[in-house]
Amino acid sequence: MNDLLKGKNGIIFGALNDRSIAWHVAQHTHAQGASLVLTNTPVALRMGSLDTLAEECNAKVIAADATNINDLNNLVQESLRHFGGKIDFVLHSIGQSPNVRKKIPYEDINYQFMQRTMDISAISFHKVMNVLYNNDAMADGGSIVALTYIAGERSFPLYGDMAEAKAMLESIARSFGARFGRKCGVRVNTVSQSPTLTTAGEGIAGMEKMYRYADMMSPLGNASASDCADYIVTLFSDFTRKVTMQNLYHDGGFSATGLTENTLDALCKGLNG
Ligand SMILES: NC(=O)c1ccc[n+]([C@@H]2O[C@H](COP(=O)([O-])OP(=O)(O)OC[C@H]3O[C@@H](n4cnc5c(N)ncnc54)[C@H](O)[C@@H]3O)[C@@H](O)[C@H]2O)c1
Repeated sequence: MNDLLKGKNGIIFGALNDRSIAWHVAQHTHAQGASLVLTNTPVALRMGSLDTLAEECNAKVIAADATNINDLNNLVQESLRHFGGKIDFVLHSIGQSPNVRKKIPYEDINYQFMQRTMDISAISFHKVMNVLYNNDAMADGGSIVALTYIAGERSFPLYGDMAEAKAMLESIARSFGARFGRKCGVRVNTVSQSPTLTTAGEGIAGMEKMYRYADMMSPLGNASASDCADYIVTLFSDFTRKVTMQNLYHDGGFSATGLTENTLDALCKGLNG
């Protein structure tokens, strides 16, 4: 316990169950002294186990669909009342693609589903920041983080239209980051995380194989949800106040690796055997 976030108030989107990255972020930020509001959709609140986490973190739960501006206004205004002050940090840990979920091949994508993917997984980030901005809800020097994946920048099989959603999410972080920085010194960044075995992660066909490949291609190995939470604590702390509009890799070195020896060995064995 270092009290890195003592006296800070944060909203955390996207904790569904104890495998969710957001779940770990809630635990780690609470352990560092933060006060929390936890939020998810009404359906996720019914199906998941957010109340258990809320009890553990002494947090308030407020339901909100992150694609709905009215829900977001209610969430932000209720949070301001609950904290009795402004919000220091926000985590956007939200993703879903009906195309990926229904295993529709990328070439034959359903465009209505694609719009839904964009709304849930990318435009919701704009909506969250729009509502925070217009309610003047963020404290000076605050920090906003969204989670992304490297398929937003490079081609990967199996990730479907989530690739386009992640590219848009990362762009929104830069565009809103410029405006939030000038307005009140608020940082906006995305964290590009290793494949992680969560409910969203396992919705991707072939996730196990992608997970093993990324692990072999990362000199430090895949980063876990708990590792990710540690990193995000630093981004919410006062030690990163000049870091903004960045896509920050948290992937054990995967993004900077061309090839590793164990991957090469495995490939050669496969080719020869
Ligand atoms: N798991 C991975 O391999 C991985 C890797 C890199 C990035 N990410 C990203 O991390 C984030 C969190 O995913 P996770 O892996 O912890 O999975 P998860 O399934 O635990 O979390 C996804 C969350 O999004 C929420 N959500 C869906 N629609 C919503 C809406 N309309 N409004 C509000 N919330 C909504 C779900 O209820 C759920 O809590 C996502 O952005 C995901 O793309 C995941």
